[in-house]
Amino acid sequence: MLATFKIFRHNPEFGAAPHYDSFKLEVDPMERVLDVLERLKGEQDSTLTYRRSCAHGVCGSDGMKINGRNSLACQVLIRDLKSSTITIDPLPGFAPVKDLAVEMKPFYKNLESVIPWQIADETKFPELERRVDDKHSQRVEEASRCIQCGCCTSSCPSFWFSEQYLGPAALVKAFRYVFDPRDSGNEQRREVLNAERTGVWRCHTIFNCAEACPKSIDTTYHIQELKRWLATGKTE
Ligand code: F3S
Ligand code: FES
Repeated sequence: MLATFKIFRHNPEFGAAPHYDSFKLEVDPMERVLDVLERLKGEQDSTLTYRRSCAHGVCGSDGMKINGRNSLACQVLIRDLKSSTITIDPLPGFAPVKDLAVEMKPFYKNLESVIPWQIADETKFPELERRVDDKHSQRVEEASRCIQCGCCTSSCPSFWFSEQYLGPAALVKAFRYVFDPRDSGNEQRREVLNAERTGVWRCHTIFNCAEACPKSIDTTYHIQELKRWLATGKTE
């Protein structure tokens, strides 16, 4: 089928105003949007800029807004867009760097602030291999699937208002460790998560994040569970 791709272009180095470029090309309905971007870059415009790495939904680097929805370009088939006009924008809420690439530093800063690694209590778990039972493993399984693509945080109006708000991706990562019985860093995390202007209470249960997640993680549920933990101290 013949399709038109309208792609957001912005190159601050040359001072040109942001605009859309249109490209027409024959596409196979089973092609992925990332494949088409690769063809456009290889065959029509080598200056077209976007991020990608694994091309298989693992690295999280090719988040972008495709026909109005935050998505991973490597996971979206042309067929599923049900339109011969496909508009591609950078992820909203982040400053554009060039074309479809955005500034992710605030996102990583927020992620780092929740201490996204396990702080083991060696008195409770002296063995080198710290095993966890099925029940607790399942509790954090969904949160563990997050690949930090930023699609959820980019869709959140609270984050648009202030990039200091931790955002759903950092909160899901916090959940991963707060609800892990082998971890002993919850008092440090409590301070970050409970912060009035930047922590979980800035989440107004808008649900955009859960809709946007390309890994089908119920981000809103995980944030609600963190609120419950902060209010009651219970992780069970
Ligand atoms: Fe934002 Fe998701 Fe909460 S969209 S307000 S983090 S439910
Ligand atoms: Fe790695 Fe799409 S390129 S997730």
